Amino acid sequence: MSSSILTIIYLIASVTFIVGLKMLSHPITARKGNLVAASGMTIAILGTIFLYKENGVGLHNYAYIFAALIIGSIIGTLSAKKVKMTQMPEMVSLFNGMGGACAMLISVVEFNHFMQIENDEKYTTNYSMLLIIIVGLIIGAVSFAGSIIAWGKLNGKVKDFSFKGQHIFNMFLLLIIVSLSISIFYDFGDTDYIFYGILALALLYGVFFVLPIGGADMPVVISLLNSFTGVAAACAGFLYNNKAMLTGGILVGAAGTLLTVLMCKAMNRSLLNVVIGNFGVSNAASSSGEQGGAYKEVTISDAAMLMSYAKKVIIVPGYGLAVAQAQHTCHELEKTLTDKGVDVTYAIHPVAGRMPGHMNVLLAEADVAYEKLEEMEDANTNFKTTDVVLILGANDVVNPAAKKDPSSPIYGMPILEVEQAKTVIVNKRSMKPGYAGIENALFYQPKTSMLFGDAKKVLQDLCAEVKAN
Ligand code: TAP
Repeated sequence: MSSSILTIIYLIASVTFIVGLKMLSHPITARKGNLVAASGMTIAILGTIFLYKENGVGLHNYAYIFAALIIGSIIGTLSAKKVKMTQMPEMVSLFNGMGGACAMLISVVEFNHFMQIENDEKYTTNYSMLLIIIVGLIIGAVSFAGSIIAWGKLNGKVKDFSFKGQHIFNMFLLLIIVSLSISIFYDFGDTDYIFYGILALALLYGVFFVLPIGGADMPVVISLLNSFTGVAAACAGFLYNNKAMLTGGILVGAAGTLLTVLMCKAMNRSLLNVVIGNFGVSNAASSSGEQGGAYKEVTISDAAMLMSYAKKVIIVPGYGLAVAQAQHTCHELEKTLTDKGVDVTYAIHPVAGRMPGHMNVLLAEADVAYEKLEEMEDANTNFKTTDVVLILGANDVVNPAAKKDPSSPIYGMPILEVEQAKTVIVNKRSMKPGYAGIENALFYQPKTSMLFGDAKKVLQDLCAEVKAN
């Protein structure tokens, strides 16, 4: 009886994961989608704790289980409340690492159970079980170690590191891991040593896999590691014949893979190029920061005047807006201009910021109406009929080199073609490059004017001036 109820609970949980994931694809439903999937996971966890039985025996370590649940929930809630939007990729990476660690530890526990099975049976009837244990161990360990390095790199504690021949070294490590994994099926007698050797090498591989990857590529790598964790969790779902875990793992694996592919497409890079390209390291390092050339500046009052008397203004938000936490002030400027009869919209580049959907989330947080957001293709059509484009802390995503300069590292990346508008105002704090570490010719064009300063302060001043106009 309890097993049928548990099956129904797992089915409901699986449905909530799918519905929740679907709802995550739209900013208006995303919050609810998260809650729907989380409540499905809660019932799946509680169902497992109270109804799961193996050979008629249920779980009994309630004190340990609930102590861990409570401690984990408190840490998770506090860190989610404390985290700043700009630190979100770090947090995703850390949490993803914990998922990888869980999958890895499940494989360790299940390997010990496997070793207790009578010898004759072990290698004849349980090959598939051993295979899943090993696959879960390797993927979980790579995901755990890689995510922790990614977390350290994003918060500046771990520096980019690579050495000559590192990719060959990585391939060699992978080859040893695969060879050892095959050898374990032939029972050479030292199975324990081989198993823990695989674990150590997979951890090492995770470290060396992520260490050389350039800073700008970290969100892509985190998404890739996220899909690894999904696959590792699905392996655990197989081991325990747990449908909810299996569905959850497959969904995370598939969603992470799709997101990785979409991000690579939006940057016009192949995954191989991301993994071995060192993008954002050499260029940023070779850049001296301030670049040469003549550029024009505009004052706050002139910028406010231009926008107040414009018919159409498009705002281009970028990473700098998130750093300045200026989304609320930005929304205020939009409302002030709209009250004056100006048509104001936002042009959203798919990789503006540092994580997928960064700008959508940021603007949704400030209650910007979703209809005000224009996707890149639509914005590129509308720039032609736009009087003023106001760029707020965006750089690479409006860099014309992506279209015009085949030698540029961002060549081929689709960009927001802001130059088509009548006037372009760029707000940033200096002439320093963006994440790709390259100069931006847009800043030196005749129709572009620079408006230097922290985005929040500049927007506050602009609001005051527009109101006074
Ligand atoms: P960036 O090219 O990084 O430019 C951001 C600009 O904001 C900088 O040039 C900086 O100039 C300015 N800034 C920083 N703090 C500021 C502040 N407080 N006030 C005003 N301006 C400030 O950003 P982007 O155009 O959004 O492009 C995103 C980059 O990240 C792309 O290279 C993209 O490929 C990469 N990336 C994104 C993702 C996702 S999924 N979003 C994934 C991987 C890689 P100053 O220092 O002069 O102020």
